[in-house]
Amino acid sequence: MTDDLRRAGRTAADLAAGHLASVPDGPVWRPVPGADRAWLTDQPLPAAGRPLEDLLADVRDHVLPHPMGNGHPRFFGWVNSPPSPAGVLVAPLAAAMNPSCAGGEHAGALLERTAVRWLAELVGFPHRPGAGLLTSGASMATVIALATARQREGRRQGWDVRETGLYERSPLAMYVSAEGHSCLRKAAELLGLGGRYLRTVPVDGSYRMDTAALRRLVAADVAGGVRPFFVAASAGTVNTGAVDPLGDVAEVAREHGLWFHVDGAYGALGVLGDPGFTGLELADSLALDPHKWLGVPVDCGCVLFGDPAGPRDTFSLVPPYLRDEGADELGWFSEYGPEQTRPFRALRVWATIAHLGREGVARLVRRTCALARTLAAMVEADEEFDLLAPAVTSVVAFRLRPAGLDPREVEELNRRLPAAVQHRGRAFLTGTNLSGTTALRACVLHPDTTEADLTILLEEIRTAARSPS
Ligand SMILES: Cc1ncc(COP(=O)(O)O)c(C=O)c1O
Repeated sequence: MTDDLRRAGRTAADLAAGHLASVPDGPVWRPVPGADRAWLTDQPLPAAGRPLEDLLADVRDHVLPHPMGNGHPRFFGWVNSPPSPAGVLVAPLAAAMNPSCAGGEHAGALLERTAVRWLAELVGFPHRPGAGLLTSGASMATVIALATARQREGRRQGWDVRETGLYERSPLAMYVSAEGHSCLRKAAELLGLGGRYLRTVPVDGSYRMDTAALRRLVAADVAGGVRPFFVAASAGTVNTGAVDPLGDVAEVAREHGLWFHVDGAYGALGVLGDPGFTGLELADSLALDPHKWLGVPVDCGCVLFGDPAGPRDTFSLVPPYLRDEGADELGWFSEYGPEQTRPFRALRVWATIAHLGREGVARLVRRTCALARTLAAMVEADEEFDLLAPAVTSVVAFRLRPAGLDPREVEELNRRLPAAVQHRGRAFLTGTNLSGTTALRACVLHPDTTEADLTILLEEIRTAARSPS
């Protein structure tokens, strides 16, 4: 078996390297043709097994030809980066070890301490040992942060939400800007807080949280007998990359005893930009996704806390069979979140940061932000395009507005453009809605994207607009 694995492993390494090398020359994305789609979705369960090398032939012929597109320098969709080479390199080694990083005395659990601390140090978040863990992504990081805030609020009011649930308690209100990510609402619903107590704070003309409106909403809740307990600001919104006025939000949180959460899933690394921003360090919890800007291969999120006691108080539940007399004072990672068996994500984080160094990460952030500013300038200089928000991180929100179209036609055009551009295969961008306006958005994350790629993106949008729908 080991000899087979060694042989096939060499082929797999060649396939991976060949795939990465060929991606820029192919279409960014293309629809999966019927036969391959059927192969991917309808395979019968095999009765007998097959040799490893055979499986690789299938991967080569049916899997690798159909990527999502995010390895390509002209992929500007959502927030999906190409994989870091160092992350690709070590992923099979983590699988070869296959530990559970719930905790214990082994490399997987121990290296997560370094990975989490490095992430905190990269973004300037004050780190106390144990105050953070890797997660599947920011959605899970948000669940962990919100549950911890809910537990703290219960304790303050003299009850234990883990024991009593939310039964017969007065409602708790949380505050999220109109541009806050949907994972915040999902987490609120999941944790029984009720979507109706999630207050949507309006944004200003730059899509940043309006803190005067936040104060008014908090005051209205206090007057109405609803207890304000949590505010989430964004460091890099998904729609425009906007960074909320973190210091001002922190101030409101401090005045009213709210838990201050920052969603930096996409944009926390933007602190390394030029200009960067400050205020992350004031948060009680920060969600950031190594599988976004940093390029750690999916999946990898992270939640950092100011105080490690909170998540442990919220999640620690150690049954007798898991007691570890040898554990240090921090205990196990599984005491800080809902997952018991946890994958060895730390190796991919460690390798990615070790390969780039702090300087390399900062260079990547500065380069992609500069490209986004260039794209914004190109959009502004072109009469056919409208820039819809300032480019403060690496997202550009804009739309096409050709002369002669009425507002309804402009809306329809921009609604159909993302799919039309995607199907042409030369660039990939996605759309969104900003204050009721259909928008195009381009997120620059790829280290090899160039200004020429930005020119092609705008050309593709114009060409797709001219082609029949
Ligand atoms: C700002 C922001 N927050 C949260 C998320 C959710 O992150 P994940 O998909 O890792 O759960 C995203 C995903 O794009 C995001 O951009």
